[in-house]
Amino acid sequence: MSEISVKTEEKRNLQQQVKQLKKEKNAIILAHYYQEPEIQEIADFIGDSLELAKKAAQTDAKIIVFAGVHFMAETAKILNPSKKVLLPDLNAGCSLAESCPPDAFRKLKEEYPDHMVVTYINCSAEIKTLSDIVCTSSNAEKIINSIPEDKPIIFAPDKNLGKYLMQKTGRKMLLWDGACIVHEAFSLDKLLELFKQNPTAMIIAHPESEEHILKVANYIGSTSGMLNYVKSSDHDTFIVATEAGILHQMKKDVPHKKLIPAPAKEDNTCACSECAFMKMNTLQKLFNCLKNESPEIILEKDLMEKAHKPIVRMLELS
Ligand code: 13P
Ligand code: SF4
Repeated sequence: MSEISVKTEEKRNLQQQVKQLKKEKNAIILAHYYQEPEIQEIADFIGDSLELAKKAAQTDAKIIVFAGVHFMAETAKILNPSKKVLLPDLNAGCSLAESCPPDAFRKLKEEYPDHMVVTYINCSAEIKTLSDIVCTSSNAEKIINSIPEDKPIIFAPDKNLGKYLMQKTGRKMLLWDGACIVHEAFSLDKLLELFKQNPTAMIIAHPESEEHILKVANYIGSTSGMLNYVKSSDHDTFIVATEAGILHQMKKDVPHKKLIPAPAKEDNTCACSECAFMKMNTLQKLFNCLKNESPEIILEKDLMEKAHKPIVRMLELS
């Protein structure tokens, strides 16, 4: 057998064992579109961060295995305090969440006590306790529009999404200076060059991308929004400015269409458009964590209670 067939065989065996364990333990696997294909293939549900939070709120499984990053698993735990929530690699963080340390954010909030605090779900549970309402990339506009016009707003942690929302809603907001390393890695010059070679292409981008990328985009939306757009569009070529993991589902959805990943600023061989945090979860780690029921997300009761409110407010408005 060739090395590739051995690897494929090993992968299938491991996937089979995960499926078996899942049944035995009454567990559900929730996976984000940025996960490795071999994880997406065995997930019970794949979605964007809003869909995953909704699914986590509804499940009656005993164990939730979250194939995503830490803040997503934390959100699932906050919504299910009595359930076991597992994350295959506890180090799977998020540069955006890390760009907003609680002490500094608390200080800003104290300086503007009359402001309503809206936080993007990509933040720690502690930041959520300091928030009035949470949002994701798919409902952010709706959430901002739900706030009375005379109420000033602090928006954190993503400044790119924040700027985009200010344009879309016409609301002035005080923005936290945070960003995602993956979505700030796209090169406008290379993107325009690519567009010259593919002049019929539609440029689609995640709103965490920088303003100059969003300016040239034909469609801006969450990961699920981008997938739906590509499926329903009459066009057949797309330049995709978000994490490369989305291409797995996109290729499945529109096998006949041409999908081109947006180029990164660094040389063409680098994996800048891959989220190193998302990719920390592997099939082997997923198997291990389900087998050992560890690593588990453990949060203090008080923290969960305080962070619960702004998440539920978001779900009620979504
Ligand atoms: P979505 O809301 O599209 O799932 O985005 C999550 C994310 O982390 C993007 O980088
Ligand atoms: Fe965080 Fe960016 Fe990775 Fe999304 S892609 S999880 S925002 S670091």
